[in-house]
Amino acid sequence: MAQPYTVRISSQKGGVGKTTISVNLAVALKRIGHKVLIVDADYVNPVVGFHLGLEEINRGFRSVMLGKAKLTNSVSIHSPTGLHVLGGEMTQKMFEPNQAQIRRFDNMLKGTAYDFIIIDTPPGFSTQNFFGYSNEAAIIITPDLQATASAMRLSQIFDRLHLKHNIVLNRVRSRRWELNVGEIEETYGSKVSAIFPEDDTVPMSIAAHIPAFLFNRRAPFSKGMERFSRGYSLRTEVRPNPPGSGIIGWLRRVIGY
Ligand SMILES: Nc1ncnc2c1ncn2[C@@H]1O[C@H](COP(=O)(O)OP(=O)(O)OP(=O)(O)O)[C@@H](O)[C@H]1O
Ligand SMILES: [Mg+2]
Repeated sequence: MAQPYTVRISSQKGGVGKTTISVNLAVALKRIGHKVLIVDADYVNPVVGFHLGLEEINRGFRSVMLGKAKLTNSVSIHSPTGLHVLGGEMTQKMFEPNQAQIRRFDNMLKGTAYDFIIIDTPPGFSTQNFFGYSNEAAIIITPDLQATASAMRLSQIFDRLHLKHNIVLNRVRSRRWELNVGEIEETYGSKVSAIFPEDDTVPMSIAAHIPAFLFNRRAPFSKGMERFSRGYSLRTEVRPNPPGSGIIGWLRRVIGY
């Protein structure tokens, strides 16, 4: 059995669109027909469940990390798509996983039968040392100097960890004062792998607890996500099995496979 292909969605700067891109990438890969788990590893501000309209998460990332619950018992299913979700518990207690917990968690993930595991992470320089094993990372930036400069520092961390990574540019409005793609590529020293426009569909869909990719498939953000997810789909040799319609499709969505 092939190991799941794990993609970590990262940024040094907060609020650039990591959770939005994680959730929509997971949903889009699921719609292609892959077996997908999304992990809300943002133990500071876990909102993946909120984006997907799931009820409050009482057992999730934190419980599994602390060894208080099994992964299989802590996964929720997003019923419109069948996406598997390891949500994050909203808690007052401070929690930051240690390396031993992360190693144990990694081994747990490696033993699962998912094609893809998408990991939404908290922002920040130090936290990006966590979440041990991933096949690759996407560093999300917005077209400004702060996000671009901090992405370069993050990229250096990932280089040290020998972790393959790409730059993904989000919230592009093509205004005069924004950094353009050429400037970002020159600063960063490599190509931007995907560009997502600023799109009102995104905040509208978050307010409706429906990922933008499902909320409006024709929206510019969703079209970008379609291309982005197809690129990831090609990274695995596992052939997708599209959910289809009728009773079989419904059943597959309900059980999540
Ligand atoms: N392409 C987009 N178009 C319009 N709004 C967007 C887009 N991407 C993200 N946003 C908005 O930006 C805000 C922050 O997005 P999101 O929560 O995904 O960022 P984040 O990087 O996960 O933040 P944090 O670092 O706090 O975890 C959200 O309110 C969302 O509506
Ligand atoms: Mg987030």
